[in-house]
Amino acid sequence: MFTLRKSFIWLGGLISLMLFYVWTNRRSTFTLEHDNRPIHSSAWRQSGDDTYFWRTIGAYNQPNSSVHTLPTGTPSIFPEVQTKFAPETTAARELREQRQKVVKDTFIRSWNSYKEHAWMSDELMPVSAGSRNPFGGWAATLVDSLDTLWIMDLGTDFAQAVNAIDAIDFTRTDMAQINVFETTIRYLGAFLAAFDLSGDTRLLHKAAEVGEMLYKAFDTPNRMPLMRWDLNAAAQGAETNASSNTLLAEIGSLSMEFTRLSQLTGNSKWFDAISRITDVMEKAQTLTELPGLWPLTVNAKENIFTQGSTFTLGAMADSAYEYLPKMATLLGGQVPVYQAMYEMAMDTAINNNLFRPMTPTNEDILISGQVRTERKGDITTTKLELQGQHLVCYLGGALALGGKLFARPGDVTIANKLTDGCIYTYKAFPHGIMPETFFMAACESRETCEWDENLWKQQVLQRAGGEEGKTAQADAVILENHLPKGFTEIPDRRYILRPEAIESVFILYRVTGRKDLIESAWEMFQAIEENTQTELANTAVWDVTVEGEKPRHVDSMESFWMGETLKYFYLIFSKPDLISLDEYVFNTEAHPLRRMI
Ligand SMILES: *[C@@H]1O[C@H](CO)[C@@H](O)[C@H](O)[C@H]1NC(C)=O
Ligand SMILES: *[C@@H]1O[C@H](CO)[C@@H](O)[C@H](O)[C@H]1NC(C)=O
Repeated sequence: MFTLRKSFIWLGGLISLMLFYVWTNRRSTFTLEHDNRPIHSSAWRQSGDDTYFWRTIGAYNQPNSSVHTLPTGTPSIFPEVQTKFAPETTAARELREQRQKVVKDTFIRSWNSYKEHAWMSDELMPVSAGSRNPFGGWAATLVDSLDTLWIMDLGTDFAQAVNAIDAIDFTRTDMAQINVFETTIRYLGAFLAAFDLSGDTRLLHKAAEVGEMLYKAFDTPNRMPLMRWDLNAAAQGAETNASSNTLLAEIGSLSMEFTRLSQLTGNSKWFDAISRITDVMEKAQTLTELPGLWPLTVNAKENIFTQGSTFTLGAMADSAYEYLPKMATLLGGQVPVYQAMYEMAMDTAINNNLFRPMTPTNEDILISGQVRTERKGDITTTKLELQGQHLVCYLGGALALGGKLFARPGDVTIANKLTDGCIYTYKAFPHGIMPETFFMAACESRETCEWDENLWKQQVLQRAGGEEGKTAQADAVILENHLPKGFTEIPDRRYILRPEAIESVFILYRVTGRKDLIESAWEMFQAIEENTQTELANTAVWDVTVEGEKPRHVDSMESFWMGETLKYFYLIFSKPDLISLDEYVFNTEAHPLRRMI
């Protein structure tokens, strides 16, 4: 074992040298031509990264010869994503700035409490003033907040936070397994975005450290990553396979961060790593039970992405779809497969996954549900489950972006209806906040819909497993479960400080300029603040469905509260050129990466 490891170290050193050579030769052509802001290449070069732990331990399975190199040609010109905003009146500006300040003050409160009670931990416990480490113990909240500090112009705190990152040690963890996806979107995405904004090379070095660590999770026989990964074992030389039971969202959404890291360092290896996943997705896309979409779980160990009968754009699949148009953007359209996969996936989803819920006011809105397929002989039938989720609210934003970039106005129309569906769902609940998951009654058609109280009650009974036609029984279920009209079941009543609704409201606002979206955002913000505020910060809550009593606190504040939710609230009340969608593209943790333009 010992000699084996040594030869790997030697091989690893040689490969590092080769990659270093390729990189030093490529970077000058790349960075200065296609990125508006030059990279501080000399500082980066002197870093001595070749001695960094994860670079020195070598690999059991080297990528084979067909390496994907990062495209460095001329990016295509995409249509503008943001609408042209008319100059604002003084009154509108004052109101906007006033709201923006309220959001910023909420952020500062949470940040100061994190600093005081949980500094360098992953999360503050916002009720008990404790701290927790569910994301490796690498200061997730600090890292996730870096670019928000920058965007909110909190320079002193930003400087203090950047000074602190040197102490984060990505070579070890107290956790038995780390989540490769979460580590990528939160840590790697955050360092890259903070670097893209500030140009501080310490951030790029830290991004490269995380990138080197994560790259080791791809050291499997087929170079597919192991997504729930024993990092400490890997550090000691354990061999692994990818998992035959991998979530689509996890394996499908490493692409943006890995690509940006390759762009900024000039080293293609990360882009190559995720391109192998893209290749498998591309080959599988037409061969699944619902061609166009991939099943919720895939077999990464054997490159089988076609088996499975659940198809959703929601939880556990979500960002795999979100990253398709975003990858096209990030790469300046130079890898056409991302647009092609987006278009095919969205065509399928729009036809199969969306439904118009039945509401007392006959709203023209859409919700994205979950399809199950069943195969009998040669015939596959599909059944749409009328489930909604807070998480799937990101979809409006993704379609608005894709619709603009690829000149598909139909996607923007759907984006409006989906986002309005999320706004409606917030308003339908007594505290003005949507629960994690719910079911609704659906209209027969998306074109017309008449509220039918009886039909709603029948569907409530169906979900509750009651007897058909017993309206009294339905009334009892509705009362007991606090079901607003149109809703048939609420399996998860929490609100956990999630960003997806405001994310789509923000993106759609930048795309369309619809003024009512600003008002919706303000209502959402006030509802969230009102119901989640603690003495220290803000917390997840157990049940947003009970009228007349404040939801009970969970004592949990995930890093996305300051990394995403408050950032999107702040940005919708900012001038539209602050993080313009024509210059930046957000990863799924709201970290803005610079587009190739
Ligand atoms: C290289 O790897 C890719 C993807 O992992 C695979 O499709 C291809 O067949 C491999 N080529 C060789 C020569 O092994
Ligand atoms: C990887 O999978 C192969 C084939 O199933 C198996 O022979 C091998 O022992 C596995 N390796 C590890 C480290 O689990």
